[in-house]
Amino acid sequence: MATADAPVDDALRDVAVTALREAGLLDGAPVLEPLAGGVSNDVVVVRAGATAFVVKRALTRLRVAEVWEASAERSYTEAAALRWAHGVAPDAVPRVVAVDRRHGVLVLELAPAGYGDWKRQLLAGDVRPEVGARLGAVLAAWHVASASDPGVLAEFGDQEAFRQLRLDPFYAVAAERNPAAAPAIAALVDRMTGTRTCLVHGDFSPKNVLVEPVVDGGLWVIDWEVAHAGDPVFDVAFLLHHLLGKIVARPEHRDELKATAERFVRTYADRTRETLGVLPGRYLLAHTAALLLARVDGRSPVDYFTADQRDSARALALDMLRETPDGVDELWRMTSV
Ligand SMILES: Nc1ncnc2c1ncn2[C@@H]1O[C@H](COP(=O)(O)OP(=O)(O)O)[C@@H](O)[C@H]1O
Ligand SMILES: [Mg+2]
Repeated sequence: MATADAPVDDALRDVAVTALREAGLLDGAPVLEPLAGGVSNDVVVVRAGATAFVVKRALTRLRVAEVWEASAERSYTEAAALRWAHGVAPDAVPRVVAVDRRHGVLVLELAPAGYGDWKRQLLAGDVRPEVGARLGAVLAAWHVASASDPGVLAEFGDQEAFRQLRLDPFYAVAAERNPAAAPAIAALVDRMTGTRTCLVHGDFSPKNVLVEPVVDGGLWVIDWEVAHAGDPVFDVAFLLHHLLGKIVARPEHRDELKATAERFVRTYADRTRETLGVLPGRYLLAHTAALLLARVDGRSPVDYFTADQRDSARALALDMLRETPDGVDELWRMTSV
């Protein structure tokens, strides 16, 4: 985990310490460290004696250049989703230690020492395709378990946070800024919002995967605040568009990144086929394209592209939307990535 440069502000310190104290979790003088990486929450580690917790508070105005607002209620969605996901795959998410509605914070288990965010590892050239396979397997486990659980689908039926944090800032803004692609993007959104097959994480991104950097090490998927009953293809496309972005940005690691993407999709498809049916390749790649376009022209642009890479990513996304490949093998054949 990376710590942030800025110190923890006093208001957040008070809230975090009070929440932990009231939950009976604090014994001794607390030491706080802010965690870097998030744009939509304040996240701090609070250590006291031998114990350490993560305290997370949702922001209503996100830390991006453009105005982007979202309701803080999503914290409670996150807590509920984490608890459910923990029941299915206890090694793959933090435990929810406490939910404090009065202070608007969640207290979570801190990742074990050594876990680091996968985005940084990928950008640093530490690309291990087996992580793709493991993510495909755990995502499939969550999708399959929730697909046959009407209680979960009802509990997470509200798609409002997904609209505020994904549909509007990604799909709608990308469509607005690329009128030629707008009808294709609108059709994807229609089909997706009309699908409520399983519990969708909604932010299944390398930034939200904490990985132990050793062979067969552990892995956590965090940040479930946009979880909702929806279309499983969104999570697959979300991770895939991130990997495609890394291929554009780090052509020297193209082969390992492609292998990571292939193992992710293949493992996921194998493990969901029986319950969810055949993964629709063209629909998946069209979403992947729309998301890549959104990360160039939407409200949450990729922070590691050069100007040339931005242009290549946009051109690739528009090509893929015009003539959508039917799965990753066809994508590699069709493009130079
Ligand atoms: N339980 C945890 N253990 C360790 N680090 C964490 C934990 N939860 C969050 N973090 C760190 O804090 C960052 C931001 O948290 P996250 O839940 O992803 O919120 P945001 O919605 O702001 O992205 C993560 O990218 C990760 O580095
Ligand atoms: Mg995050």
